[in-house]
Amino acid sequence: MSPLERLIRDRIAENGPIPVSKYMELALAHPEHGYYMAKEPFGTSGDFVTAPEISQVFGELIGLWSAVAWQQMDHPVSINIIECGPGRGTLMKDYLRAADMVPDFRQAIDLYLVETSPALREVQNAALEGKTPQWHNALDEIPAGPAILIANEFLDALPICQLEKTPNGWAERLVGTDGEKFYFLPGDIAENTADIVPRSLKDAPDRSVFEYSPAILSFADTLSRRLAGAPGYALLIDYGHDRPGTADTLQAVREHAYHPALADPGSADLTAHVDFAAVRERFLRNNTQVFGPVAQGDFLASLGIRERTEKLCQNAAAGQAATLRSATDRLISANRMGTLFRVMVAGSEGLPPPPGFESCKDKEC
Ligand SMILES: C[S@@+](CC[C@H](N)C(=O)[O-])C[C@H]1O[C@@H](n2cnc3c(N)ncnc32)[C@H](O)[C@@H]1O
Repeated sequence: MSPLERLIRDRIAENGPIPVSKYMELALAHPEHGYYMAKEPFGTSGDFVTAPEISQVFGELIGLWSAVAWQQMDHPVSINIIECGPGRGTLMKDYLRAADMVPDFRQAIDLYLVETSPALREVQNAALEGKTPQWHNALDEIPAGPAILIANEFLDALPICQLEKTPNGWAERLVGTDGEKFYFLPGDIAENTADIVPRSLKDAPDRSVFEYSPAILSFADTLSRRLAGAPGYALLIDYGHDRPGTADTLQAVREHAYHPALADPGSADLTAHVDFAAVRERFLRNNTQVFGPVAQGDFLASLGIRERTEKLCQNAAAGQAATLRSATDRLISANRMGTLFRVMVAGSEGLPPPPGFESCKDKEC
């Protein structure tokens, strides 16, 4: 049994079952044994592959997207580029290479990375050698000022709470143990669920699961405060859903295969789909402009991913060109990452829609 599993079992034995959010927080972020603290989980030899690891074009297009967004902000002489959860630093490396093509933008950049994992900070440091990023544990530690924030597959790593419908109302879903394995169980009937569960789901059948994330909503609140204080945009990319619904989306992945969500905590990535409807609503309630969400495939196509791929293919050997085209296909095809992944932008009041969102203003598009 791993030290983390022992620790969670002991905690449950002492104080009783723990909320799903606490289990997720310990599994991912326990300072010593959490999944992201000790391990480098990316790539074919790791547990999963993210978009920037699939194709260099992903980070490059986001770099150029940012250059246009910066121009739309009236090109401030100094801009905080903030990446939350930068993984191996690959996205930012490709981003900065593309930003070099717009020298005034590149010169304006102060680079900040929000990363809690010491192991991944080292990997990011090596990838971004000479680029002088500054690391922080949380967004609210980063100095105020004009900013563009990027977060790819960051929100899905923040803990979620689950509510389970019972004949008496919505109960917080807990994790308990029978001494051998962990299992889910409903706890006490939760209070204030009318403020949490959308009215459209009020009559959901018993045993339905509704997920919400105080951690994501608090992140949205911090972002709203920043965007109210100085001009900026935040580009949020993740897998998730645009409409409220009931589903248990907590999932663990290890070595590129699904793993039981409650088995071997700390040894597998544990994520949940992002409820973009709730995030949108939160931004709007905070008087923050919000654009989208749109499908990742549409977003990347509107930024010219096919054209950029073909340009790269012109100078590539046949095998390399096939790899580049297949990577682009993986990012944009509806049956791969193109539809499941959603892209949303939050922006300061008064700023125009950024590239890829020209047709939407405070509405889904
Ligand atoms: C799934 S990875 C995404 C990596 C990268 N954005 C990519 O696309 O390859 C999640 C990243 O978020 C970081 N992370 C997770 N929870 C965090 C938190 N609460 N605060 C800061 N970083 C966190 C992880 O260490 C990791 O770098």
